[in-house]
Amino acid sequence: MTQDELKQAVARAAMQYVPAGTIIGVGTGSTTNYFIDELGAAKGLIRGAVASSQATAARLARHGIEVVDLNDVVELPICVDGADEIDPGLSMIKGGGGALTREKIVAAVARTFICIADASKRVETLGHCALPVEVIPMARGYVERELRAMGFEPSLRGRFVTDNGNLILDVLCQRIEQPGELEAQINGIVGVVTNGLFARRGADMALIGGPDGVTVLQRSQ
Ligand code: 5RP
Repeated sequence: MTQDELKQAVARAAMQYVPAGTIIGVGTGSTTNYFIDELGAAKGLIRGAVASSQATAARLARHGIEVVDLNDVVELPICVDGADEIDPGLSMIKGGGGALTREKIVAAVARTFICIADASKRVETLGHCALPVEVIPMARGYVERELRAMGFEPSLRGRFVTDNGNLILDVLCQRIEQPGELEAQINGIVGVVTNGLFARRGADMALIGGPDGVTVLQRSQ
């Protein structure tokens, strides 16, 4: 199976967890795009969706799915989203597509976070890919210096501007032994909106697509 077929398989598998007649949270990225296409094919299954990015909102709308403002919703039964890396405890690095802040907000409101990913995203320890940090533009230099003082080498993600009008610093961390601590530490730098570690609120369930099918991982209590 190709990587795209694996992404499609996990997107399809996630459909069984979508409660009919509800408003759900929807993440961002190529795997999530397959999930949106599945939602579109299941016409009328959900009442609407909260989008974690403008790209997701546009794709949902193209499928005729109502895009709901998060402020009009008290709770989301689930959110379904991809990941750049996921570890055995279901902590993740996200934000490869730069949508980390809105993804984290949607995840915070969702009762159950379902991560969908192909097996290449599975790691023993997070840190193989760069950790995105969303930064208010005027704070970029300060945040860079603070990250360097922590021993990291941040690099500005070109001319990329997030849906929130901010910048992304990508930080190579190598091995993230304590993702919850690092998440809080980086978020504590003034000018950081949030970083792409999803450890304090990780996934509750992960559907991982590999050559032998879809494996379901549950977060241990
Ligand atoms: C976007 C994300 C994505 O979920 C993550 O980058 C995975 O994307 P893909 O499904 O395309 O591999 O966090 O901000």
